[in-house]
Amino acid sequence: MARDVLQMGEPLLASPAEPVKEFNTRFLNDLINELRETQHKHSGVGIAAPQIGVSKRVIIVGFSEKNERYPKEKPVPEAVLINPEYEPTSMTTIDRWEGCLSTPGLRGLVPRYNKIKYSALDPQGKKIEGIAEGFHARIIQHECDHINGFLYPQRIKDLRNFGFEKVLWEKVIKD
Ligand code: NI
Repeated sequence: MARDVLQMGEPLLASPAEPVKEFNTRFLNDLINELRETQHKHSGVGIAAPQIGVSKRVIIVGFSEKNERYPKEKPVPEAVLINPEYEPTSMTTIDRWEGCLSTPGLRGLVPRYNKIKYSALDPQGKKIEGIAEGFHARIIQHECDHINGFLYPQRIKDLRNFGFEKVLWEKVIKD
């Protein structure tokens, strides 16, 4: 079942989440299903467990069809990443307009590494590794921020580039 999404200002969104230590459990499977349903209900391109009130290092990234919130972006394969970590493969960053289900109606211009190497565990506890680029890399960095207690407004370099989606939409879709 889809859950309510916590909104910016909730202390849980500003707190580092706990690592997952047990795999293949009912708790973990239920959490993943709830995250997936909540993400789909709100047309998210990713989601993190703290956003539904659960302090665990579990994120989902990706979407299979064109996304109304990011109309220019091509689908990204959906993956559940548990205890994820990443490092940039180069220090090149790109600025793009970003939003979040925890800040509905808002967008900000956020720099992210263009290419990263990531590793995580899957729901069975098996190691996953990969390289992600562009929007895919951006989503992973955004969701990893969530489990470390950061929201994207903290990453905006110039707060003049932060505002309401309805005002900024032209810029967002030209981006
Ligand atoms: Ni978010």
